Amino acid sequence: MTKIGDNNSYGLTTKLLYSDIDLSDDWSVSPPIHQSVNAVAADAEEFADISSVPLGDKFYARHGNPTTSRLAKVISSLEGGESGIIFSSGMGAITTTLLSFLKAGDHVVAQTNHYMGTTEMVTHVLPKYGIETTKVDQRDALAFERAVKPNTRLILTETPVNPSMHITDLNFVSELAKSKGIITFCDNTFATPINQKPLEFGVDIVMHSATKYIGGHHDLLAGSITASQTIVEQIWDMNMNVGAIPSPFNSWLALRGIRTLELRVLQQNRNAQAIAELLEESSKVNQVYYPGLKSHPQHGLAQKQMSGFGGLLTFDLKGGYDAGVKFIESLKLARNAGSLGGVYSVIIQPASMFAGRLTKELLEEQGITSGLIRFAAGIENTTDILNDIEQALEQI
Ligand SMILES: Cc1ncc(COP(=O)(O)O)c(C=O)c1O
Repeated sequence: MTKIGDNNSYGLTTKLLYSDIDLSDDWSVSPPIHQSVNAVAADAEEFADISSVPLGDKFYARHGNPTTSRLAKVISSLEGGESGIIFSSGMGAITTTLLSFLKAGDHVVAQTNHYMGTTEMVTHVLPKYGIETTKVDQRDALAFERAVKPNTRLILTETPVNPSMHITDLNFVSELAKSKGIITFCDNTFATPINQKPLEFGVDIVMHSATKYIGGHHDLLAGSITASQTIVEQIWDMNMNVGAIPSPFNSWLALRGIRTLELRVLQQNRNAQAIAELLEESSKVNQVYYPGLKSHPQHGLAQKQMSGFGGLLTFDLKGGYDAGVKFIESLKLARNAGSLGGVYSVIIQPASMFAGRLTKELLEEQGITSGLIRFAAGIENTTDILNDIEQALEQI
């Protein structure tokens, strides 16, 4: 059996293919789906053992599952983390982590811009339980320092963030937090571990909505956390009560999807860069937001902490909302759909998608203008995507 262990000399795709091989317990090349909810113990001693071990995947499916463990191992190996745990969704990962480390009277520093669900958690849910949050402009590293209070327990980061594509200085925030005994959390969904590894910059907890790039095929919901063994065991312990457990089939789908993560993300990086450059030249476009563009105000920081700039970009059409409707209608390839990171390009008007969920104030706070378009590149051939966008721009 091949065991590649923690050998860092392997390339990313080799790690994606082999880092869970030592968890294989049968003859199959493709991992089986362990559907059984419980496992049989040989005797009383083994029963005591399997029922009490943290992250144990051979007792009861709420504690763990062998298929799910393999997915956690592959993600941890890629992120360079000691341990990992998988959830039923990205929000399951976020909520369970917050519940694991926060109590009434604690304070959180978060960003003005986050994924909508994270924003709702810190704005509306945590205050109900006596947990206060200060939101800061993530572009201003010193703002994190100014926001810290004696009772700050956690700093929440997400970079790059959607739809503004702002970047957080992970090294600065981690050093600040470490000097004050504060835990740092990074939502690394949009960058993916192919382009950015927050643990290398000192972040404590890395999270993914595995629904996006990790799954990669628009067909599953899952979330992941990678961190030290101690932190992961604490989160696992909380999830025993929360129960945000992925189905074995979704773990298997994500495991199947993640094998090609590097191949997909490199093509998505290429597509997004080419699209951003094309749009920047267009007379129909006010502004393009993509960390890979030299015109991005934080391009230097992005180059420092990212090895690629990701598949996601936003841009502001001069014609506003109606031009956005016409543009999207005219595209032949990208689909008008929300969840991104899979093989297909997807496009949305944030002003339309978030209108029902975010208040007018929160929309403004997030920089969502009427002409804003979010384009998440898929793995289509670059020329085809560019030609499609060019012809759609001509229609508006
Ligand atoms: C950046 C980011 N974080 C978290 C989430 C939540 O993940 P899920 O939908 O898997 O619960 C999403 C979902 O869109 C996201 O885009």
